[in-house]
Amino acid sequence: MPEREADRSSPYSGMTMNNHGKINEREKNSMKAIVDPDLCIGCTLCVQICPSVFEMHDDKAFAYADPVPGSDIETCRDAARQCPVNAIILEE
Ligand code: F3S
Repeated sequence: MPEREADRSSPYSGMTMNNHGKINEREKNSMKAIVDPDLCIGCTLCVQICPSVFEMHDDKAFAYADPVPGSDIETCRDAARQCPVNAIILEE
């Protein structure tokens, strides 16, 4: 089974740093969130945790923020971690 982004311990896995040791801002802000509609059971937890990224469409969640704004990345990761059926896929 492929590792989900939410399972990684580092919030900046796979990102590069510039010559000053700072994380590249463009890369830091390039996360994409996807809800697998076949897995989502419509519990609404992700919308409660991170309403700036997720919303409900009928009985399924949808990630409407693409890409996820840098200021919402940690909250989005938290939503993915807490989804009871691991329906949220994070791509960086
Ligand atoms: Fe669905 Fe998981 Fe959100 S079940 S409503 S994607 S927390």
